[in-house]
Amino acid sequence: MTRVVAVLGTGKMGGGIARRLKTGAFQISIWDRTRSKAEALDVGRVAGSPADAVRNSDLVISMLTGPEAVREVYFGPAGAFEAAGGKTVVEMRPKDRHLDGDLARRGQVALSNARMIGSRHRCPSPARSPRRWRRLPTMKESRMDWDERFLRSDELHGYVPSPPLPQAIEGIAPGRALDLACGAGRHAIFLAERGWKVHAIDGSRVGVQRMLDVAHKRGVSSRILGEVADIESPRFRIEGEHDLVCDFYFLHRPLFAEIRRALRPSGLFVAAIHIHAAPDEGCRFLLDPGELRALFLDWEIVHSRECDAAEPDHRHGTAELIARKPP
Ligand SMILES: C[S@@+](CC[C@H](N)C(=O)[O-])C[C@H]1O[C@@H](n2cnc3c(N)ncnc32)[C@H](O)[C@@H]1O
Repeated sequence: MTRVVAVLGTGKMGGGIARRLKTGAFQISIWDRTRSKAEALDVGRVAGSPADAVRNSDLVISMLTGPEAVREVYFGPAGAFEAAGGKTVVEMRPKDRHLDGDLARRGQVALSNARMIGSRHRCPSPARSPRRWRRLPTMKESRMDWDERFLRSDELHGYVPSPPLPQAIEGIAPGRALDLACGAGRHAIFLAERGWKVHAIDGSRVGVQRMLDVAHKRGVSSRILGEVADIESPRFRIEGEHDLVCDFYFLHRPLFAEIRRALRPSGLFVAAIHIHAAPDEGCRFLLDPGELRALFLDWEIVHSRECDAAEPDHRHGTAELIARKPP
């Protein structure tokens, strides 16, 4: 099914996103206050107004700068809100408390905007693996890849949680959970449906938005706080204490120290993360065999195993862990 995406604002970012969406199976409906800029992109239908761009779209991505411009494009004559009812609007502008409040009051979705750091992703050992030592995507680029995957409805996993999460919470009274790199929210929603209050964080705005939409449809949105943030930023900190911390299929090694700190005594850490099959495959996205368990040996290991790919579309083996922090 072809999905229509409305892109409002064709600056550097908006134009880049529109071009990349065009290379996927998306139809683009584009609007910019300078019509010739939108036309020059040549990515799809150039709309006459924000409302016109939004009217027949399935999703709206807005990349406008300045709160006044955003207000006019949303609330002004032939503004996006004339036609955006019930649609998902992904707002990419910097956070603005007053504007966010206005957007929320009018029943639309405003995601808080966390700045993304353009850090380079590198494998740790170019000497060991020279062919893999190439320019890897910047945070912005990889975030856009994830946005595109979630727009294409990839990586949703049918909203079925990965092992060993169901096992980890069996018989446990629901409390406060943190889902790191939550993606489109399958684990956050699974937990919320079982009474947990979940803080779910991911770098992909589209993933977080999708999670909030599904949570809304399933009646659990009041139990999920979605946040867009770069978890790999050196400034990233986990706020507060949690009864459960989840990390599914995301590896950023400095995060483990934060996770250990952010769990309350007797709290549970539950994870499933890919491992490499051969040492020369070692990359910063893959664990060494035995590495995950070794990081929590001073905690009670409730469950630990390394197995083949645990989910149908996964290629790599997986390390699973449930570990309880000492009381
Ligand atoms: C393989 S998906 C896993 C999603 C989810 N945990 C699940 O199991 O369905 C990896 C996720 O990590 C997120 N991610 C990658 N780099 C990130 C970063 N630096 N900060 C926050 N999220 C990031 C991606 O957006 C994506 O949603």
